[in-house]
Amino acid sequence: MANRGNFSGNIGFILAAAGSAVGLGNIWKFPYEAGQNGGAAFLLIYILLTFLLCYPIMIGEIAIGRRAGSDAYGSYRQLGGKRWGYLGLFGILCGIMILSFYNVVAGWAFGYFLEISFGSLLDHPNYGTFFSEYVIDFWDNLIFSACFMAITAFIVLKGVQKGIEAASKIMMPALFSILIILIAYSLTLPNASAGISFYLLPDFSKINFQTIYSAMGQAFFSLSLGMGALITYGSYVGKNQNVIGAAATITLMDMSVAFLSGLLIFPLVFSQGQSPAEGPALVFVVLPGIFNAMGPIIGRLMGGGFFLLLCFAALTSTVSLLEVPVAYFVDQKKWSRKKTTWLLAVFIFVVGLPSMLSQGAVEMFTHLPFYQDRSALDFVSEVFSDISLPLGGFLMTLFIVTRWGTNNMSEELSLGNESYRNSLLEKYVNFSIRYICPVILGIFSVLIIIDKFYGIDKLTN
Ligand code: PFF
Repeated sequence: MANRGNFSGNIGFILAAAGSAVGLGNIWKFPYEAGQNGGAAFLLIYILLTFLLCYPIMIGEIAIGRRAGSDAYGSYRQLGGKRWGYLGLFGILCGIMILSFYNVVAGWAFGYFLEISFGSLLDHPNYGTFFSEYVIDFWDNLIFSACFMAITAFIVLKGVQKGIEAASKIMMPALFSILIILIAYSLTLPNASAGISFYLLPDFSKINFQTIYSAMGQAFFSLSLGMGALITYGSYVGKNQNVIGAAATITLMDMSVAFLSGLLIFPLVFSQGQSPAEGPALVFVVLPGIFNAMGPIIGRLMGGGFFLLLCFAALTSTVSLLEVPVAYFVDQKKWSRKKTTWLLAVFIFVVGLPSMLSQGAVEMFTHLPFYQDRSALDFVSEVFSDISLPLGGFLMTLFIVTRWGTNNMSEELSLGNESYRNSLLEKYVNFSIRYICPVILGIFSVLIIIDKFYGIDKLTN
């Protein structure tokens, strides 16, 4: 156990975990999910679910990891026995699958950085067309996402402190700053106020089952919950550190970046007369417009800077995704960190190829016959993220309630935060983990699975 590595201190852990949380989920996924699901209504439910379910679940995951001091599988197994170990393995599988498609989208962001900074993207007459042609360009996609995976592996190889922490320390503040500058600019554009109303004035009639479960999947994905990433990171956290405070900071940072991305994107969408329900292409189609409006030099600088930072944000997330299976093989199978990291990076890259080719490049992957003719990327992201992460969160709360005990959890959490015991917050966290999470997540996990494979409307009609 001696050489597993540790975060240097509270700040190191917070930055690494916030780095894991803040990523494409906030800047790419959040705006398009909000755009497709009613804007402000989605935002409201997303915030509510984050406080009600996700914050307690995050605390629970970190506590499990720190108590057991092991990877996702090892931690569940140690605290709960062999059967619960399978839940850890399920999380590891989700990590592998999520990384496989995440890396593809990160490759697009990297390509956009190059195309805006050094290519002619901003002069293109139609950014929508540019995007749809871009994602079927086999070689560009292959090379950029291979580079992305290689850089991820390189950082993971460096280990916890030197690699993961150091990378997060510079990128997070830079990302915040550039977002603020762009928002200030986008608010001055004509018709920006229509975007603000769409994003901030909820229309409650738009709330339905779809809004709630999209917001739930989004909240879990965005906070890196439900698959043991924070169990793994928690295992590197010192016993004198305040987990409760750290989790609050991570949650707030993640929520603010998501919120700010929406505040940037929707005024742009409406000022350019586009539809907010564009789907996964949204930020790639809308953002170049603002950079173009800034003029050829500043536009290139800001646009290039923005996509570069997006790549960095994605990188601290891919690193945490890769760390989950790497920690498993290093801890459980005693493989060397180096061998494991490279082997897994190559393997996951290959697993991601169908997703990469599913945007029109290869028909078979673009329209999966067994998945309502949707793409391989949709399939992997919906099954292993939208469905599996809330399900993983549900099972984690069952693990705490029926096996490990909220009492043990509280004991672990009061290390580094003595006032936690008997506090109001403790009561809230325990109540949420005992009742709110299992009930809400249990019901939704079942409904989501029925809906994805069968279609909930078929049940209600
Ligand atoms: N939270 C990341 C994002 O929002 O981009 C994605 C992610 C990272 C999900 C790590 C899950 C995970 F374990």
